[in-house]
Amino acid sequence: MLTKSEFAERILNGHTPSIKEKATAFAPANIALIKYWGKRDSQLNLPVTDSLSIDLGNLGTETTVEPSGSDIVILNGNKLAPEDAFAVKVINFVDLFRNALNQAATNRPALTITTNNNIPTGAGVASSASGFAAMTMALDQFYGLGLAGRELSLLANLGSGSASRSIFTGFVYRHAGTDPDGMDSYSEPLPYTWPELKIGLITVSAKAKQVSSRDGMERTVATSPLYKKWPDQVKSDMAKMLDAIKAKDFELLGATAENNALAMHECMRAATPPLNYFEPETEAIICKVQELRKEGLPIYLTIDAGPNVKLLYLNKDEEKVKTEFPDMRVVNR
Ligand code: DP6
Repeated sequence: MLTKSEFAERILNGHTPSIKEKATAFAPANIALIKYWGKRDSQLNLPVTDSLSIDLGNLGTETTVEPSGSDIVILNGNKLAPEDAFAVKVINFVDLFRNALNQAATNRPALTITTNNNIPTGAGVASSASGFAAMTMALDQFYGLGLAGRELSLLANLGSGSASRSIFTGFVYRHAGTDPDGMDSYSEPLPYTWPELKIGLITVSAKAKQVSSRDGMERTVATSPLYKKWPDQVKSDMAKMLDAIKAKDFELLGATAENNALAMHECMRAATPPLNYFEPETEAIICKVQELRKEGLPIYLTIDAGPNVKLLYLNKDEEKVKTEFPDMRVVNR
């Protein structure tokens, strides 16, 4: 098993940096239609199962990398203290690049990392996926590495598992892989588009989650009896999801995504102690969506490790969906 540094070295070795004055990159947030929950290697963020996501268009993170006198992290316009937890995470991530490239005998400038999320605060969308993806792409450009998408996805994954998917747009497939070193655990874009497919964000609570995805996954894998069935569920859901995307079968896509998300939450709730990310309002929205469907409105939902709900519907139904959920924020993709 590799450490994160060894993993980064494996990918970056042989690349000769040619440092630019400044580099900026944008990466979109993404929402998983087939979820990643559980790691086969928690150090390297290698997942137990494959996952599949769709990007959130212009919602995401823009990151700029440039040389400076000392390492500085600026988040949404605020210069962070060096000991700030986010700043430490960013600098540790940047060090993976610096250390690996240092081996290739280059100099090692201090950097200013400026990162801006345009995801509205409290939209219920995590910024870590787009954040680490944008940082990976900006570092690739800054060092003039010209890495391929697959390599970028492998490196972004060292920051956060879901970041691996944010390197690409559209439908993105993340392979769990089987290699203990994780070199086959990459993401790739799927060659299908579906402009009619819409995503709406409903914010139930903007509070930070009590249990991080990392800790929640560990607890679920270690203690939930339902988790034993999760890899098989993902396998069968993934086959349905790929069929749905290829055939543009919205009902199959929606039903599969909703079922997969709710099954993930069932696995979490069966953990010890139980892990419940829902608020009462989350439950109410789930009931409402299922009621509306019975009344004939084709609308489905998915929920990540938090109380906020993401609605899936077709463009032709947007007005009706907006009327039912006036607080919904439509994602422009
Ligand atoms: C429920 O990618 O945030 O959103 O790899 O520990 O950083 P780490 O976890 P993270 O987990 C995302 C979990 C999820 C499902 C998904 O996005 O696939």
